[in-house]
Amino acid sequence: MSYFRDNIERMAGYQPGEQPKDGKYVKLNTNENPYPPSPKVIDAIKDAANSNLRLYPDPLATYVRENAANVFGTKPENVLVGNGSDDLLTIIIRSFAGPGDKVVYPYPTYMLYKTLAELQDAIACPIDFPDDYSLPNGISVKGAKVTFVANPNSPSGTIIPAGEISKLAEKMDGVLVLDEAYADFADSNCLTLVDKYPNILVLRTLSKSYSLAGLRLGFCIANEAIIQGMIKAKDSYNVDRLSMAAAIAALDDQETLKRNVAGIKETRAFLSNSLSEMGFFVYPSQSNFVFFRCSSVFAARQIMQKLKNRKILIRYFDIPKADDCLRVTVGTKEEIGYFLDNLRDIIKEEGLSKQVAVKRKKEAAALYKYEH
Ligand SMILES: Cc1ncc(COP(=O)(O)O)c(C=O)c1O
Repeated sequence: MSYFRDNIERMAGYQPGEQPKDGKYVKLNTNENPYPPSPKVIDAIKDAANSNLRLYPDPLATYVRENAANVFGTKPENVLVGNGSDDLLTIIIRSFAGPGDKVVYPYPTYMLYKTLAELQDAIACPIDFPDDYSLPNGISVKGAKVTFVANPNSPSGTIIPAGEISKLAEKMDGVLVLDEAYADFADSNCLTLVDKYPNILVLRTLSKSYSLAGLRLGFCIANEAIIQGMIKAKDSYNVDRLSMAAAIAALDDQETLKRNVAGIKETRAFLSNSLSEMGFFVYPSQSNFVFFRCSSVFAARQIMQKLKNRKILIRYFDIPKADDCLRVTVGTKEEIGYFLDNLRDIIKEEGLSKQVAVKRKKEAAALYKYEH
């Protein structure tokens, strides 16, 4: 017999990417930023590590909200701060979906959306992306309470233009959550849609572009009434004092952000071109990772495992529609050079180039619909 609710008993739970404990790996599997955060962030954390830690933090993270509003070109009332965007995703699901409600998302995407729906005993409704990762036709589901769209998407790295998202918002029943964890690496985003559509919520995070995955800080930008409602569903003290101090310093140092993002975009172009030259089908990335298709499921698995044997971690998703693909985080130029050298070696190794022939058929290469 189980003490758990039936839906918890049934669900598998979210499987995060591997976080090796020995630190000897070149880690290109969980989309962390390869550059260190702003030194001002470290100073701010040191300054905040004082006797005030005996006091609870500000429940609304007022100063962080103000700084974030400044950076995002909105008002503090339109911003909610969370313990990473995962916390905000949890607050969203608690706020808008109950047992039996429909929670929609394109597939394949960030797998936490499914887990959150299951936690709520809601009905997870994945809608398959077409092969070009454009917006699926059936994404506007009647009666859906929450629709999640990661934009840019993970694992594909592709983006749906704001014009398509606007059209979707107009015909949606419930709220449309645009998870923009990777937006700082993209050429466009949907922030300004928040002013136009009362049902759009945009999520941002310090985890990726600000190099602060270890800190846990995210933002939800939405209409004031939505933010007010979500405040009721959050933990009172969901962001701690040290994270708040760090967030203010991080947002304040836009120079470091721009420099790091520019470095990642440059390496991303090099990585994407190199993979294409090797014969893989590479999806056009608007994020800090590159998703590429191999000749078969077998080839993808072999490559991932052989890289791992060489202490290089990339991400393989053993799920339909993505199981012949691999996702590699854009590391430093050196890390990516090392990854590519090893990948070339592996393909040559022991006649693997024949079995793991990476040339995709022409139709696979014809795929991507949106221009950048
Ligand atoms: C699409 C997407 N949303 C959200 C997150 C989590 O972000 P955070 O670290 O802010 O919780 C990730 C992390 O990988 C992600 O890929």
